[in-house]
Amino acid sequence: MLGRLNHIGVAVPSLDEAVATYRRLLGASEVSGVIELPEQGVRVRFVEAPNGQVELLEPMGENSPVAGFLARNPKGGQHHLCFEVADIHAAKAEMEAEGATVLNEPRIGAHRTLVIFAPPKDFHGVLLELMEPVQGAHG
Ligand code: CO
Repeated sequence: MLGRLNHIGVAVPSLDEAVATYRRLLGASEVSGVIELPEQGVRVRFVEAPNGQVELLEPMGENSPVAGFLARNPKGGQHHLCFEVADIHAAKAEMEAEGATVLNEPRIGAHRTLVIFAPPKDFHGVLLELMEPVQGAHG
């Protein structure tokens, strides 16, 4: 079921500062606007690279899971990997059949497609996100 690596999630204390760094040090020119996901406790911006994206995540609200991550990693850090899967419900069933924990029912993510997450303890210390691809785009 493993599809394309869509993006790498990076938690940061400040989206503005992080975007400025990507522009200044790497010449990043394509950066999305701010996407707010209040139900997930984050606001995000996507930096476009030729073969994928970096999703910068800033905590939104006191109970944001990213706030907890930043408490342990004050400068920020790699937060998750996101792979595309053709069918999110089939992927969830396959993961669970293999004994993995899936943290949520499929829900709409930052790309407006369905996503699920699996916890770092089941994936060698990395939070895993799976998403259905954006139709007609690399997402
Ligand atoms: Co993500």
